[in-house]
Amino acid sequence: MGSVPERLTWAVRNLDPAPGDRVLEIGCGRGVALALLCERLTSGTVTAIDRSGTAVAAARRRNAESVAAGRAVVRVADLEEAEFPDGSFDRILAVDVNLFWVRSPDQELAALRRWLAPGGTLCLCWEPPAGQRAQEIAGKVEPVVAAHGFATEVRVGVSGKGSALVCVVGRAAGEDDRDAGDTGWRGGRG
Ligand SMILES: C[S@@+](CC[C@H](N)C(=O)[O-])C[C@H]1O[C@@H](n2cnc3c(N)ncnc32)[C@H](O)[C@@H]1O
Repeated sequence: MGSVPERLTWAVRNLDPAPGDRVLEIGCGRGVALALLCERLTSGTVTAIDRSGTAVAAARRRNAESVAAGRAVVRVADLEEAEFPDGSFDRILAVDVNLFWVRSPDQELAALRRWLAPGGTLCLCWEPPAGQRAQEIAGKVEPVVAAHGFATEVRVGVSGKGSALVCVVGRAAGEDDRDAGDTGWRGGRG
């Protein structure tokens, strides 16, 4: 596959999809994380979207086998205009997609919450250019994700090159959480 940026292996590890999961990747770029996701799935599927036609063409080429096998679908789509039925996905991933922290992502997060099945997981990850930014991004994104009904966790890491990695994880309440109340899954790490 060529060299895989550590932020992408880290992001996929944080997402931790099960072999049968239905995964959505937003802003898939050239499809490097998409390939990592496909490697982890057996009966599961990945839908990857990107607003750039050039990126989508490259992602399709890189993942041609998975696309042909029906394991991956790659579409040109702007998140703001994308539509999926409620509960379509078990996991949703975005890596280095800045809209979630450079402006209000309320509309997008409301859609992602609808598209996630009960108990589903959202992972928004970044490798910010400077270490300071990781805290800034987490500080902006985590409260908005929580405000959309997700139980949140912030994870931080450091790549082998010394750059910061940050991931805001949001878990949608599941059937088992109905009686959990405030003792449900919520916390911070790192
Ligand atoms: C910095 S690149 C990251 C690509 C890949 N996730 C990675 O980490 O290597 C951001 C990608 O997100 C896409 N993107 C940004 N905003 C988007 C949006 N609103 N809807 C769909 N794709 C978007 C861009 O076209 C670009 O391919």
